Amino acid sequence: MNEQYLEILYKFKADIPVVSVSGPLPEVPRIVRNINDMVAIELSLPFYQWDTARGFKDLPESWNEQSDRQTDILEVLRHLESNKPKGIFVLLNPPFTGDDASVMTQAIQNLFFSLRGSRTYIVLLAHEVLPEGVTEIIFNLEIPLPAQSGVREIISSWLKEHNILLSEEDLMSLTRSAQGLSQQEIEDILAESKSKFGVVEARETAASLSNFKVKKLERHNLTFAEKPEVPIGGLAYLKDWLSMTTKLLTFEALESGLSTPKGMLLIGPPGSGKSLVPKVISQKWSVPCLVLDISTIYGKTNASAELNLKNILKMAESLAPCILMIDEIEKILATGDEISLRVFGTFLTWMQEKSALVFVVATVNRVLRIPPELTRPGRFDVTFFVDLPGEEDRVEVLDIHLKKRNVQFEQHELEKLAKKTPDYSGAELEQIVKEAVATAYSEGYLGDLKLEHLLDVAERTIPVSKARKEEIEKIRLYGEIYARPAAPKSYS
Ligand SMILES: Nc1ncnc2c1ncn2[C@@H]1O[C@H](COP(=O)(O)OP(=O)(O)OP(=O)(O)O)[C@@H](O)[C@H]1O
Ligand SMILES: [Mg+2]
Repeated sequence: MNEQYLEILYKFKADIPVVSVSGPLPEVPRIVRNINDMVAIELSLPFYQWDTARGFKDLPESWNEQSDRQTDILEVLRHLESNKPKGIFVLLNPPFTGDDASVMTQAIQNLFFSLRGSRTYIVLLAHEVLPEGVTEIIFNLEIPLPAQSGVREIISSWLKEHNILLSEEDLMSLTRSAQGLSQQEIEDILAESKSKFGVVEARETAASLSNFKVKKLERHNLTFAEKPEVPIGGLAYLKDWLSMTTKLLTFEALESGLSTPKGMLLIGPPGSGKSLVPKVISQKWSVPCLVLDISTIYGKTNASAELNLKNILKMAESLAPCILMIDEIEKILATGDEISLRVFGTFLTWMQEKSALVFVVATVNRVLRIPPELTRPGRFDVTFFVDLPGEEDRVEVLDIHLKKRNVQFEQHELEKLAKKTPDYSGAELEQIVKEAVATAYSEGYLGDLKLEHLLDVAERTIPVSKARKEEIEKIRLYGEIYARPAAPKSYS
């Protein structure tokens, strides 16, 4: 965690007088403290903290005590420029909006050039994204949420400090639940648990941490996916790829950040099992699966969409290792205007550069909207075409859904049913099973579902492949050219 502060120190030592720092809101007091301890003390300089509400916490000597303008940011910046008082000045959330926005930007630019050689150093500790005129010349340092090992350390030291001993298993469970929270949040919840129960009861505390996290994720429009209700039937090539990739996920590989898989793009007709895939991967890898509804990043005003997405991605990284499921990713381009292009660019850069194991499983529903940049190498590891199941896969899918309802059929019966359901999707096969079971139940055949029940419902079902023939054909055409088949080819 200390590297960030060292970086600020090096910048100041190199006489770069203004830097900006961004971090999670609950961490702000700690960040301020660390800048004092690790930068100001190291440079033997006085430390000053300013915010719009109270002005300076301790007034710099150079400031005329009579003046009451210290809450006016422009006044403060002018003072720093003309008096060049020696010290580290942390400016909390300096306001870059409103009428003075461009004046503020100009003032910061001026300081960046004029403060050199004066030992007056400024840290803009901002929660919002700063204007381009500032970010272009001023280096921004991000203080991330603690990663898994950091969280573990925070919990262990807190427990040690409070003379509480927990088993390795309990410590792991608390760590998993606390991932995605800031140090302050974790410590507050541990303290609350201790004050409530007198001890830190692992199960209760893990539940409090998880509940708090779920609420926090919801504020970022992220939810956790439910566990898959069934395994995936068929899709042999996709499963092969997954087994191979799973072997690469050794602890050593993850720790060293090497060969971290980035993600999988899935193209295919509706109901073919695309949304089932990330849930099954999450179960196979024993990591959480986060769901991002892409339309929520464009709120009432598109303007904050980029910031929203950045926060979401930061949140997902802090939960690594995890799966991030993004359905209908083509929606990220929303209106195709400048803002959505920027949002899309932010996503692509993140995909390209991320080192944490946030395995993105994205699905595409409208192939005509797929921007070519999405499928370029360096973003997703693989693009699969998840077609409607062929005959053999249909046997597997039917078997899975029948077994889920405690019904077993002979192989030849399943094959007969599969033959009668050409181009039916997995979702439709599931529906047939559901309906047939319900019919059998209503006819008093419970536990004695006949093949005829299933064949009967199948015959009455009109599959999407028929109802939306042209659309499915387009998807197939695109999938065959641009993606790898998820299953051996066998139409109808
Ligand atoms: N290959 C499969 N194996 C087992 N079940 C399947 C399979 N494909 C689909 N299903 C069943 O159908 C349900 C719906 O499928 P799913 O939501 O994953 O389809 P999708 O491809 O994401 O569709 P859409 O494009 O409409 O979002 C699944 O939850 C599962 O119960
Ligand atoms: Mg889906």
